[in-house]
Amino acid sequence: MLQIQENVSLKNFNTFGVEAKARYFVEINHKDELVELFMDPQWKQMEHLVLGGGSNMLLLKDYEGLVIRINIRGIEHRISHEDVYVEAGAGEVWNDLVNFCVAREYAGLENLSLIPGSVGASPIQNIGAYGVELKDVFYSCNAFELATGTFKTFTKADCRFEYRESIFKSELKGQYIIVSVKFHLSLVPNFNLKYGAIELELKNRNITSPTLKDVSQVVSHIRVSKLPDPSTIGNAGSFFKNPIISADQFSGIQAKFPEVVNYPAGDGLVKLAAGWLIEQCGWKGKVVGNTGTWMNQALVLVNHGGASGAEVYAFSSQIIDSVYTKFGVMLQREVNIIS
Ligand code: FAD
Ligand code: EPU
Repeated sequence: MLQIQENVSLKNFNTFGVEAKARYFVEINHKDELVELFMDPQWKQMEHLVLGGGSNMLLLKDYEGLVIRINIRGIEHRISHEDVYVEAGAGEVWNDLVNFCVAREYAGLENLSLIPGSVGASPIQNIGAYGVELKDVFYSCNAFELATGTFKTFTKADCRFEYRESIFKSELKGQYIIVSVKFHLSLVPNFNLKYGAIELELKNRNITSPTLKDVSQVVSHIRVSKLPDPSTIGNAGSFFKNPIISADQFSGIQAKFPEVVNYPAGDGLVKLAAGWLIEQCGWKGKVVGNTGTWMNQALVLVNHGGASGAEVYAFSSQIIDSVYTKFGVMLQREVNIIS
């Protein structure tokens, strides 16, 4: 039986740790409960917010609709020759899935170690870190369509993954709830160690032939050294996307700022490191009221305690303005803004 609660604090359900109340709140433990929920016209018509681990959202105020917390569990795995297919419930904790695979020597997820959040949210922004993106290991996902009350399977091509983007963030935004994700992994590791920091840390540890566990541990170590732990200081990881600009615009910026950090982004486009742009504007480690940027990573906005979502948002607007004034580049928020 579904339990709909009223006036529930979301403070412990978002890693920014900002206070906001949900008018209605329900936890979904099995996909059939979504069918039951949306058969009731009251809930079907109501505005809703799907919540996983709350590690990529900023709540600007109380939420007047229904918050649907996805807690669908279960991991199944099947081996076929060298291929491994792992299917996980949307409510599984992402890093638990990574550990599950690393422990069994299923290769593919190790570079994505320690990313907070749920399995179900991983396709939404095509999570990525240390040279790997979800799309590299994604096979398919199963999702509930709100309008029809039925389930649909999306292939990799259907999802239209791009850097921090998918169809679920664009054309189909708000129309589907992901209930499970299937990954295509391998028993034969294809290590991706090209990220300088990984190479360096392996060297520091005198590791020349790393195992999946070594890579997972090294990535976790690098992450902990750079990023604030949400259990002690509220944040949602990178607040902005790294901007992708044209070669022409890049030449203009490079002429004025020869040291600008950049990466090729295909099709003649260039990706800039937003953290560098923000640091150059003097924001790194700055504390402004209850908010600020992280001292080791200017791309991460933090809640020093007691910040409201609106305060963090206003601060992010100041950063956007100053980066635009100095470099002519308009930063885009990566975190989902819930207003
Ligand atoms: P939530 O914040 O709960 O939701 C995010 C969005 O997805 C919302 O729009 C929500 O409505 C929607 N959603 C959630 N679940 C579902 C579902 N089942 N069906 C449909 N829609 C859904 N991200 C990276 O890509 N790379 C990183 O390296 C990285 N590092 C981070 C480090 C820190 C310290 C933190 C706090 C965050 C980091 N992130 C990173 C961001 C975050 O971990 C990911 O975006 C993660 O996938 C969010 O998962 P979640 O379950 O917390 O999603
Ligand atoms: N930099 C600075 N100052 C800073 C931060 C970064 O100058 O304060 C420069 C440095 O030159 C550094 C470069 O920017 O070499 C890149 O920094 P980093 O390696 O920390 O990566 P990032 O581009 O800032 C991205 C992702 C992270 C992901 C890391 C590792 C985005 C928006 N962010 O950060 O994802 O973990 O790469 O792959 O793409 C997230 O999405 O929440 C997230 C943390």
